[in-house]
Amino acid sequence: MREILRMNNVSVHFPVKGGLPFLKRGVIQAVSDVSLTIAHGETYGIVGESGCGKTTLANAMIGMVKPTSGEVLFAGKDLLRLPKEEFKKARQKMQMIFQDPFSSLNPRFNVYQIVSEPMFIRGEDDQEAMIARVVELLELVGLSSEDLYRYPSDFSGGQRQRLGIARAISLNPSFLVCDEPVSALDVSIHAQILNLLVMIQEQMKLTYVFISHNLADVKNICDRMAVMYLGKVMESGSSDRIFKRPLHPYTQALLAAVLDTTFDEKREQIILQGDIPSPIDPPLGCRFWQRCPQAMEGCKTIPPEHLEVEDDHVVACHLVHGFPAVELPDGYDRPVESLKK
Ligand SMILES: Nc1ncnc2c1ncn2[C@@H]1O[C@H](COP(=O)(O)OP(=O)(O)OP(=O)(O)O)[C@@H](O)[C@H]1O
Ligand SMILES: [Mg+2]
Repeated sequence: MREILRMNNVSVHFPVKGGLPFLKRGVIQAVSDVSLTIAHGETYGIVGESGCGKTTLANAMIGMVKPTSGEVLFAGKDLLRLPKEEFKKARQKMQMIFQDPFSSLNPRFNVYQIVSEPMFIRGEDDQEAMIARVVELLELVGLSSEDLYRYPSDFSGGQRQRLGIARAISLNPSFLVCDEPVSALDVSIHAQILNLLVMIQEQMKLTYVFISHNLADVKNICDRMAVMYLGKVMESGSSDRIFKRPLHPYTQALLAAVLDTTFDEKREQIILQGDIPSPIDPPLGCRFWQRCPQAMEGCKTIPPEHLEVEDDHVVACHLVHGFPAVELPDGYDRPVESLKK
């Protein structure tokens, strides 16, 4: 695998704001100790419930948030320790498409200004060349030169997302984060925008990080993926293998919740009890134990390791690997009573 991005033990913590000054303030552990690799030209999916840290993880990949600890290597270089100028250049290679095409475009800018802004910021000043480049980009995303001086309010959601894509690829990036790029769109537009993304990826040889709640999309377009829960990756690797044989109870529950004919086998529905715990004070052991239908006593206190179960299929779960071979107190391998109804 020729890797383009690697994360080693990345954590991102945010301070909790507010509260009384003399009270101890906690930290939000948005991303905890995540390690992953992304290959050149692949589409890497990130899935998980709202608030589990998908956007924060993606922001850390492209240097938009600074990890509290760990390292991010982009094209072999440590992104966080690059000199300012080199960091700027690396950042131009990494762009992002946002979920909401209504709020992510400046309503006071026209199409030309929106799409050319990144080039302008980079220091380009040849107006004619920029207009030609913007027209080329508009045509690539299915808009035209007639749209140059229109404003975002003149466009539908799908067209605005096309504009967001044109802007994101204007500097010829090699790495593009698509943060729920189609979830705000109608079903009919949804497929069109996905097809456009796939076409652009082929044409420009891009690597995608694709964040989505829609597992059918992830199954269709992602080569590899990570399943996140409360800031941690629970299962990762080849998406074919994960969809075929999900091993983490959380992944099993996510996949089982999809009532979709795109999946080959019928899976029994697993209803997860309770809400996601707070990332301010996450559980000590496995982050999922409080909602896991198969939790054991040891899961409460012993964090599971990330171990490969087959080629490019990594799972962090005691049910799969067993507890580490240390002296465990009595009953650690017994099911958690409160969860067994
Ligand atoms: N700038 C910030 N300051 C403080 N807390 C933050 C910040 N950004 C994110 N968080 C918190 O970090 C956690 C992870 O948020 P994040 O936006 O990464 O989740 P997500 O998986 O992208 O969710 P969604 O599916 O809703 O987009 C949440 O608890 C969120 O409130
Ligand atoms: Mg998000």
